[in-house]
Parts: sequence; C-alpha cells; structure tokens
Amino acid sequence: PRSIYFTRHGESQYNVEGKIGGDAPLSAQGEKYMQALPKLVQEKIGDTPLTVWTSTLRRTIQTASGLPYEKLTWKSLDELDAGVCDGMTYEEIEVSYPEDYAARDDDKFNYRYRGGESYRDVVIRLEPVILELERQENILVVCHQAVLRCLYAYFHNLTQDELPYLKIPLHTVIKLTPKAYGCDEERFALPI
Ligand code: F6P
Repeated sequence: PRSIYFTRHGESQYNVEGKIGGDAPLSAQGEKYMQALPKLVQEKIGDTPLTVWTSTLRRTIQTASGLPYEKLTWKSLDELDAGVCDGMTYEEIEVSYPEDYAARDDDKFNYRYRGGESYRDVVIRLEPVILELERQENILVVCHQAVLRCLYAYFHNLTQDELPYLKIPLHTVIKLTPKAYGCDEERFALPI
C-alpha cells in the first residue's frame, strides 16, 4: 500500500529565537536533522519510489536537500502567514496586539492575523495539495507546523477545534498509510 510521509523542516534559527514565520535558515541542530534524514528515509522507505514536496521557504528546501529523489516546490505548502506579526515572538505579539492575542486564544482555527491568514485560510489553500496527495503514490512532504496540522487533521478526520493544537514535533517523520476508513500511523523520531 502507498504511504504519505510528513516532516517539519529541521529546527530553524527562528525556532531557536522563538520567532514565528519568516524565512530563516536551519540552526545547527536543524542541519543535523537535514544530514540524518536521507539515512532515516532509506531505512524506513527503502527502494520504494518517492517524490519529495517542499514549500518555497528555504528551511524546507534545505532540509530536503540531501534526499536523492525527485522534488517539487509548492507555494501552497508555505507556513501560515502571520501578517504584521511575522518575525515576532508570542510575547511581543501579546504586548503589541493584546486583543489579537486574546482573540486567537479564543478561536485559534478562525483567527486571522492582520494582513495574514487563519488556519481556515490554510485549509482552503491546501485543497489542491490534498487532491494531488490523494492521487499520487508515495510522497514525502517537508513543510511547516501549521500546514502539517491541517494535512494531518484531514487524513485523520479530526475536528477544527483540535486541529490548531495538534502536536507535530520537530525532527520526526510521520508515516500515514491510508486505509478504507482513516489511516494507520507510525512515527520515527530522530534523537537530535
Ligand atoms: O513557531 C513555528 C511556527 O511554524 C510559526 O512559523 C507559525 O506561526 C507557528 O509555528 C504556528 O503554530 P501556532 O499556530 O501554534 O502559533
């Protein structure tokens, strides 16, 4: 049976600084993940043909750079756009935009950043990606926390309430194998 593999990019410089959004390169830890990923994928996927999808952001392209497979870049896989809050820490957002901070806490799925997106917006822009994922054979998607929450929730049939709080850890490959109803799941974490 075919499987779909998900991973976030390796830890980025912004992850280290607690900043959201941006287009930062990988941190030293993130580079270790990038270096370890080809072996992990080879071990778990073996010689099965695979296509790698990344976003247009450099942390995903960098993470996938050592993988010896065909690659495709999707703008639709870019991280949730935090608008005016892009590049800020959560503490800075709470100080500069207290009402927005509270509104997001109140309804994280529907809250739309000023000049940016909500989780609902991301779910909508992912429709073509999901359509294509349903048609393809084995795909490894290297992208971002919010986007992976949306894809993961789709394949596991999870609700809009739980979606924005799903745990998608760094440095972990999630393997989903679609069944008649729902998906089987395995996770491979790299101790980095
Ligand atoms: O912190 C990493 C990150 O991918 C940000 O770029 C993004 O805004 C955030 O996670 C999404 O998570 P949450 O919706 O929980 O803020």
